[in-house]
Amino acid sequence: MSTYLVEGGSPLDGSVEIHGAKNSVLPILAAALLAPGECVIHNCPRLSDVEASLAILRHLGCAARREGEAVVVDASSPTRYDVPDELMREMRSSVIFLGAVLGRMGRASLCAPGGCELGPRPIDLHLAAIRGLGGRITETENGLLCAGRLRGADLVLSLPSVGATENAMLAAVCADGGTSSSSGARGRGIVDLQSFLCALGARVRGAGSSVITIEGGVPLHGASHTVMGDRIVACTYLTAAAAAGGHVEVTGVDWRTLSTVTAVLTEAGCAVRSQPGRIELTCRSPLRGVRPIRTAPYPGFPTDAQAPLMAALCRGSGCTVFVENMFESRYRHVDELCRMGADIRVEGRVAVVYGVPRLHGARVRAFDLRGGAALVVAALGAEGQTQVEGLHHIDRGYQCLEGDLSALGAQISREAGKL
Ligand code: UD1
Repeated sequence: MSTYLVEGGSPLDGSVEIHGAKNSVLPILAAALLAPGECVIHNCPRLSDVEASLAILRHLGCAARREGEAVVVDASSPTRYDVPDELMREMRSSVIFLGAVLGRMGRASLCAPGGCELGPRPIDLHLAAIRGLGGRITETENGLLCAGRLRGADLVLSLPSVGATENAMLAAVCADGGTSSSSGARGRGIVDLQSFLCALGARVRGAGSSVITIEGGVPLHGASHTVMGDRIVACTYLTAAAAAGGHVEVTGVDWRTLSTVTAVLTEAGCAVRSQPGRIELTCRSPLRGVRPIRTAPYPGFPTDAQAPLMAALCRGSGCTVFVENMFESRYRHVDELCRMGADIRVEGRVAVVYGVPRLHGARVRAFDLRGGAALVVAALGAEGQTQVEGLHHIDRGYQCLEGDLSALGAQISREAGKL
């Protein structure tokens, strides 16, 4: 079990190129299964969730190899329709293979997905979408068995679920006839998925708005695609500079996708400059509390940015109220931040952060991906050394957090086998 050792107190300074977005690349890798040809996916980050997706593709009979920053997938002749339990349980996004496997193979067999424990994460909307397209789903003790000829339909999902919308898109591309999917989910991963599906020859429109239309049954072919930059990774480095002080530039990310976060950082006292393809943040004085932050579906304040921003706001003046509207158990980082001297009170979906003048190093544990990144953010602004355990959570979404932060001047190292 490896740990991060973070020596806090060094201001950050420099520029970092943001890697491809986890939430884009995972559905895109599933979509590669639909095309009977070779797909080259550029800017494909080296993440454990990406490795799990590649392992699923190989198990299904596809060839998948890495070539530098790209991944090449050849789904000319998949042979299987089952996803092994151990791969399903590795990550939440494995459920995205439901639509892709059923669409390509005519049936699918998989168990319930794993992923971050953020409270109950039902898949009812994914199943409703597949059923709406004519998929027959049998829920067994061991998982799901799906079969059936897919037909286009007018789908209305009762919540703006990113994953269920993506699953519906993958299945609908393979269905006979047209589909309209109305869910209100407008996340950036959906837009990137649409671009990739269109590159494969599919006819998909409307991603980024609340209704997506798909003309199913169009023959697909291989294609290449570049994954968009990860806005949550960018947000993590911006909040790190807000916590530790200094000046950081992030490049390779669309600033418009982070405007809710940069507005809060500005209100907290940082100077933020956003331009196409880059965001710069300068922080020279302690942060101050900001107006209540309520997480919401895109384009609202991202739930994935809640923990890193909270970590930055722990040190400073004033108080900030967070309302977590997306997931029930998304405050598991709070107790760990309190070990470092933070003053945070949680009641249900609400967390109140009272800024303190200083944080101190402690031994803390990551319980989920963004909560883990938040502990690193807090540690960078704390006095003394922090040991962060549970790095496997962080490795799901950050290609090399310690490398990027070291390049910005942070004192952070990964120690193997400390536990
Ligand atoms: C995606 C992102 C995740 C982000 C989340 C919300 C990926 C790989 N992950 O997760 O980083 O935090 O969007 O922006 O893209 N829900 C149901 N039933 C379902 C599906 C979802 O009730 O069948 C609920 C969820 O519990 C949650 C809400 O809908 O409260 C939104 O979840 P969803 O958008 O589906 O999140 P994910 O796609 O899992």
